[in-house]
Amino acid sequence: ITAADLNAEHHLTVGGVDTLALAEQYQTPLYVYDTGAIRDEIAAFKEVFERNHVAYQISYASKAFAAVAMYQLAAQAGIHCDVVSGGEMYTAKQAGFPMDHLSFHGNNKSLDELTMALDSGVGCIMVDNFYELQLLTKLTTEREQKTTIMLRIAPGISAHTHEYISTGQEDSKFGFDLNSGQADTAVKQAQAAPYLDLVGIHCHIGSQIFELDGFKMIVDKLITVFAKWQQELDFYPQIMNVGGGFGVKYTSEDQPLKPTEFVDAILKETIAQTKALNVPMLEIWIEPGRSLVATAGMTLYTLGASKDIPGIRKYLAVDGGMGDNIRPALYDAKYEAVLAKNPSLPSEQVVSLAGKYCESGDMLIWNQQLPATQPGDVLAVLDTGAYGYSMASNYNRNPRPAVVFCEDGKSQLVVQRESYADLTRLDLPLLTPAKAES
Ligand code: LLP
Repeated sequence: ITAADLNAEHHLTVGGVDTLALAEQYQTPLYVYDTGAIRDEIAAFKEVFERNHVAYQISYASKAFAAVAMYQLAAQAGIHCDVVSGGEMYTAKQAGFPMDHLSFHGNNKSLDELTMALDSGVGCIMVDNFYELQLLTKLTTEREQKTTIMLRIAPGISAHTHEYISTGQEDSKFGFDLNSGQADTAVKQAQAAPYLDLVGIHCHIGSQIFELDGFKMIVDKLITVFAKWQQELDFYPQIMNVGGGFGVKYTSEDQPLKPTEFVDAILKETIAQTKALNVPMLEIWIEPGRSLVATAGMTLYTLGASKDIPGIRKYLAVDGGMGDNIRPALYDAKYEAVLAKNPSLPSEQVVSLAGKYCESGDMLIWNQQLPATQPGDVLAVLDTGAYGYSMASNYNRNPRPAVVFCEDGKSQLVVQRESYADLTRLDLPLLTPAKAES
């Protein structure tokens, strides 16, 4: 929170809109995004590529936050999107997103999903395994339809958030294993498939990454392999897709590099390594999800009940919780909350922020300083823009919150709040007649 995020009344703002007014107008819990911040982040990524004179594509990993309006924003910004399911593909289509700018990922794409991708002219299929490669070879041959693909490989380097592990064999469900030769076989099979056009190699080493080492290792390793393939298989990719995973700052304890610093390092390493091995420069694709949307979003909640256990802990409960943000319960993810009516008031209490779901694990934040609060106060949990709404559920039959986009002092509803009627919309009544009482 900077002074720029507060208005004259000291209320927290998002995209120039007063968060208290947003809570009033759209109710809570509410996801709100500063779409200007998303556009700025996209522009910053583009600038790095252009500054380094490297051909590129930015493909937003839409699993981080998918909605019709988000695909439209990505289309406006002129970037590509990744989808990982028929549902994401459908949403992009409904948004009028150019289907040839979609890449389709997934480790178990169904026949229906692959057919849907071919029917709708998806730009690139990221082939993950031999089963899929065979399925797609058969489908495209039957349909006599040329299809652009990349192969996802498991490079044997994985980022466990703060450390990199380079193993002989990466134990992952994703991709063709590089070290055991599966990737070589996959390249040969793809080359032999009459309707598959293998343009690139993809890998993704992890998420919420804080250091450059893993990306540098991956670039060096991939280009070494490409040079070998050029000699042995007469194949050299046009595109190297390094995935996403650029870390963001969730709390004051996080000190990540800027997402653009990762990309800058990747580009410089690629230029250096291709020169060193005397192989052609590659087009670089990235797939940022979190880094485009996490810090642009926040969740507004209204405070309700509290429980003070003397000498132990004070719980404050909000009107949402694990149904709208599963990350603390699932990953022990950390967030910070501020009081919307004045984030800069001095701290007066240490509280733990509980949700309203019937589970002890439904906690959003443990032990955080806050000014004095009372029921009805609006609290903003910051930086919830990635994997919040997209991982939301109807647990306890709570309707999922609405999503609002804010920019230049104006707000716009982009996902409506679910109603109780929405919750039973797909339910069907019991057909078995009641047994007569004996
Ligand atoms: N590309 C591929 C192939 C991926 O699997 C992912 C994320 C991304 C790109 C985007 O990664 P990002 O830039 O967002 O880190 N639900 C978890 C994160 C799961 C990420 C899965 N793959 C969370 O809430 O932290």
